[in-house]
Amino acid sequence: MALVSLLIALSTVAPIPGTSKSNGSNIDLAALLAFKAQLSDPDNILAGNWTAGTPFCQWVGVSCHRQRVTALELPNIPLKGELSPHLGNISFLSVLNLTNTGLTGLVPNGIGRLGRLELLDLGRNALSGGIPATIGNLTRLKLLDLQFNQLSGPIPVELKGLRSLGSMNLRRNYLTGTEGDINYLLSTISNSRKLYNLGIHFNYFTGRLQHNMVGNLSSQLQVFIADGNKLTGELPAMISNLTGLKVLVLSGNQLHGTITESIMTMGNNQYLDFEKNSMSGYIPANIGVLKNVQKLYLASNKFSGSISMAIVNLTKLENQRLYDNQLESTVPPSLFHIDSLIRVDLSQNFLNGALPVDVGNMK
Ligand SMILES: *[C@@H]1O[C@H](CO)[C@@H](O)[C@H](O)[C@H]1NC(C)=O
Ligand SMILES: *[C@@H]1O[C@H](CO)[C@@H](O)[C@H](O)[C@H]1NC(C)=O
Ligand SMILES: *[C@@H]1O[C@H](CO)[C@@H](O)[C@H](O)[C@H]1NC(C)=O
Ligand SMILES: *[C@@H]1O[C@H](CO)[C@@H](O)[C@H](O)[C@H]1NC(C)=O
Ligand SMILES: *[C@@H]1O[C@H](CO)[C@@H](O)[C@H](O)[C@H]1NC(C)=O
Ligand SMILES: *[C@@H]1O[C@H](CO)[C@@H](O)[C@H](O)[C@H]1NC(C)=O
Ligand SMILES: *[C@@H]1O[C@H](CO)[C@@H](O)[C@H](O)[C@H]1NC(C)=O
Ligand SMILES: *[C@@H]1O[C@H](CO)[C@@H](O)[C@H](O)[C@H]1NC(C)=O
Repeated sequence: MALVSLLIALSTVAPIPGTSKSNGSNIDLAALLAFKAQLSDPDNILAGNWTAGTPFCQWVGVSCHRQRVTALELPNIPLKGELSPHLGNISFLSVLNLTNTGLTGLVPNGIGRLGRLELLDLGRNALSGGIPATIGNLTRLKLLDLQFNQLSGPIPVELKGLRSLGSMNLRRNYLTGTEGDINYLLSTISNSRKLYNLGIHFNYFTGRLQHNMVGNLSSQLQVFIADGNKLTGELPAMISNLTGLKVLVLSGNQLHGTITESIMTMGNNQYLDFEKNSMSGYIPANIGVLKNVQKLYLASNKFSGSISMAIVNLTKLENQRLYDNQLESTVPPSLFHIDSLIRVDLSQNFLNGALPVDVGNMK
């Protein structure tokens, strides 16, 4: 009896460390338990490891600093279930990696409360609904990976707040801009001045890439991949002021018009892909300026004229695809003197003459 009243006295007067409601560690613990409770965990990975007997900082996938959770990383572990809104309470979290874990349901709005979050990888799941506008509050976020989900709707304009963002991968979802238009996305991310990687391939973006929107993109941009959307119109000349672009992939859209001469300022480009559009006109005579290009994919368009001799200057070219166009005249022998060239496909054109004997030079 005395012991019981002593315990009661202790717990009311001096909270036992680790059980006080105001202790941040306990908020983290509650959030981790709520997270676990929403998952079916079919391989019992969490069931066998996230146990009451072990401090949560030693749980698999959990990293801490001073008893606060700073990273939750369980990539490629079958968790299966929905994300708990309690995740938003893990206020010191800087890394959340739950890629390929069988997540379903919505991305909780509460994620936007994780003000210290730097890496958010929820790719390769079956998440649905929209991208929460609250994500725009994550001013320290450097990487956002939501690829291969079932996210839909427009990109929230609030993402303008992502001023630290370097990499955004939204590949293979059902996302659009406001009214579908890609230019709303480009405007939104024009605030992300450190953006070096933008992947929006296989979504529902429409519209013509506008001159000023492309011009406002980060000058750090190295990779822009937007194949498999519904982009229309001509390439804006402004694309040439993205001088750092190493990868530009716009295949499988509905682009028209010519390759602007100004694209030839892209001396850093290694991978240029305009395949499967309706582009036309000559392949620019100054194409040799693309001296770092390794993959040049222009197949399945309406390019005409002859293949420029300037191609000989593409000394790093490995793979060239020009098939299914309206190219004519003869194949320049110099093409086969490019040491790096591994594959070239010129089929389905109006080329004539015999293949040059130089073809024997290819590796
Ligand atoms: C919070 O609880 C943990 C154990 O759960 C303990 O290690 C830590 O010292 C406590 N912090 C405070 C400020 O009471
Ligand atoms: C949980 O997993 C971690 C990391 O694999 C391991 O160090 C720890 O011993 C495991 N704990 C239990 C209780 O199985
Ligand atoms: C998440 O984990 C996977 C698997 O280890 C890794 O490939 C991926 O790069 C990680 N994501 C981030 C943002 O670090
Ligand atoms: C944690 O998050 C949930 C859901 O967002 C909320 O209901 C709860 O009050 C929060 N706070 C604590 C201390 O768990
Ligand atoms: C986070 O974003 C939402 C929606 O954009 C906003 O209403 C809310 O006030 C923001 N919260 C914080 C803590 O900044
Ligand atoms: C592009 O930048 C100009 C000049 O800074 C600015 O006036 C314009 O509003 C920007 N456009 C967008 C869509 O951000
Ligand atoms: C493109 O050009 C405009 C105007 O000349 C400039 O303000 C902008 O910073 C440039 N963008 C890049 C990515 O170089
Ligand atoms: C290849 O490049 C050199 C130097 O840039 C230039 O002088 C030459 O005309 C180019 N060759 C062709 C065939 O365009």
